[in-house]
Amino acid sequence: MYLNTEIANNIFYVGVNDRIKHKFENMLPLPYGVSYNSYLIVDEKVALIDTVEMSFGDIFIDKLQSQLKNRPIDYLIINHMEPDHSGALSLIRKYYPNIILVGNKRTLEMVNGYYGIDNNTLEISDGETLSLGHHRLTFYFTPMVHWPETMMTYDETEKVLFSGDAFGCFGTLDGGVLDTEINLDKYWDEMYRYYANIVGKYGGPVQKALQKLTPLDIQTICTTHGPVWTEYASKAVDIYDQLSRYKGKKGAVIVYGSMYGNTERMAEAVAQGLVQNGIKSVVMHNVSKSDPSVILQDIFKYKGLVIGSPTYSNDLHPEIHSLLTKIKIRQVKNRIFGFFGSFSWAGVCNKKLAEFGEIMKWHVIDDSVEEKMGLKDDNYIKCIQLGKNLAELLHTSEE
Ligand code: FEO
Repeated sequence: MYLNTEIANNIFYVGVNDRIKHKFENMLPLPYGVSYNSYLIVDEKVALIDTVEMSFGDIFIDKLQSQLKNRPIDYLIINHMEPDHSGALSLIRKYYPNIILVGNKRTLEMVNGYYGIDNNTLEISDGETLSLGHHRLTFYFTPMVHWPETMMTYDETEKVLFSGDAFGCFGTLDGGVLDTEINLDKYWDEMYRYYANIVGKYGGPVQKALQKLTPLDIQTICTTHGPVWTEYASKAVDIYDQLSRYKGKKGAVIVYGSMYGNTERMAEAVAQGLVQNGIKSVVMHNVSKSDPSVILQDIFKYKGLVIGSPTYSNDLHPEIHSLLTKIKIRQVKNRIFGFFGSFSWAGVCNKKLAEFGEIMKWHVIDDSVEEKMGLKDDNYIKCIQLGKNLAELLHTSEE
């Protein structure tokens, strides 16, 4: 038996918590786990919004049956087809064989492609409405937030938005699901990390979606991951708005690779320069130790970015190289970028970092520092000056 949380009149939370998986998408660590959220609207017709990951199918069915007893489900509304939400789709059809799968053209193509299902479906168009009796649902297509088929469903009766991945974050829901009933501390940074790594590339589509939602009176946001936003809905929307505009806060991330500590000394000097010139938010990452998902989270959070690398086999440090690929995939925009490097007999890292800054179309600071072997006094001072110059630009740039 489960006592499901009622979020609004006859809207119930029926999602599950995953504290087993080590890495989301087999890439991103989950120190606080993750929830796969699903919602049930019980009206003259019953609608389920999204499902959960397949391995939690049994708990999911138990939750549905606790709520519905023997009542059937009329509709499964599919806001997003990624398997963390559509994984239990075939199982649902076994328990509820007459359920109608509701989605747009691309959703239904994916339903067929992933699960070989092409019957009992209802294709809806952008802006179309479906009445459940008392609850009236409208569908808003929001492609690329975060897949091409993604859409959001708005319950205009209860003013609840079922937003798919948007406004979501990592972190399980421990005993409560509403933002007003649980401590939110862990979720905010996990929202940055979730956005940077999962949605990061799609700032433009997120902005379009936000504009599309502007006319709606939204009281509650039900995402597919993390808390249900009520009192803090505007904060969640604001974070997504800032991130999708690539608007960094006043602060800097210094990421460096260092095998024997020489490049790290340069990084320390850059950090000193930043702080000496009034920048308090300085985050340093040893690229070989920090998880890339956390480094990306901070790169999305702050406007300044400094990368340091030793030359390694006539190329960048391999972990720095890997990080640059991850940044490029996300198409991070509007950063103020500085760089430095060291080498023992032939330096190429600064040239490659300069090229990277150009490719990203960032504001590249023209005072890079490159040291041969151990850090000498003149270059130590230049590294401090690099930090000071970045600080100056951060003070005068818009947050
Ligand atoms: Fe949580 Fe894009 O799936």
